[in-house]
Amino acid sequence: MDKLVAHAIKAREAGSAPYSGYKVGAAVLCDDGSIITGANIEVACSAAGVCAERVALSQAIYLGKRPKIIAIVADSEKPIPPCGICRQFLVEFSPLSVIMANMNGDIRRSTAYKLLPVRYERKKRV
Ligand code: THU
Repeated sequence: MDKLVAHAIKAREAGSAPYSGYKVGAAVLCDDGSIITGANIEVACSAAGVCAERVALSQAIYLGKRPKIIAIVADSEKPIPPCGICRQFLVEFSPLSVIMANMNGDIRRSTAYKLLPVRYERKKRV
């Protein structure tokens, strides 16, 4: 199995999903070879919860890393696609390859640009 997907599966265990019961894991491969992981964190107001992708990617950016590939995993029938908010988040740190996966080993590959072809362009990062 894809090494990055394996990291996302492990990260998923740390998800906090008391409201939906739906844990999601994410793993980001950075250009220095490091892998930064994250999982979804829910709170009582669902809109305030954070998806696994944004947890992992935020940590990578905070650490000053350049993300290259993100893997996302859930216990879903089909490989899990990122939500709209996460697509904007992913595209801001592109080019970024996206691996969507489930626990059965099904994998779908795409890119952040393909997942959000018409997008609000990023500003110069300072
Ligand atoms: N979720 C993610 O973490 N990533 C996705 O790509 C889709 C959805 C989370 C949000 C919420 O905690 C739970 O899955 C149910 O929607």
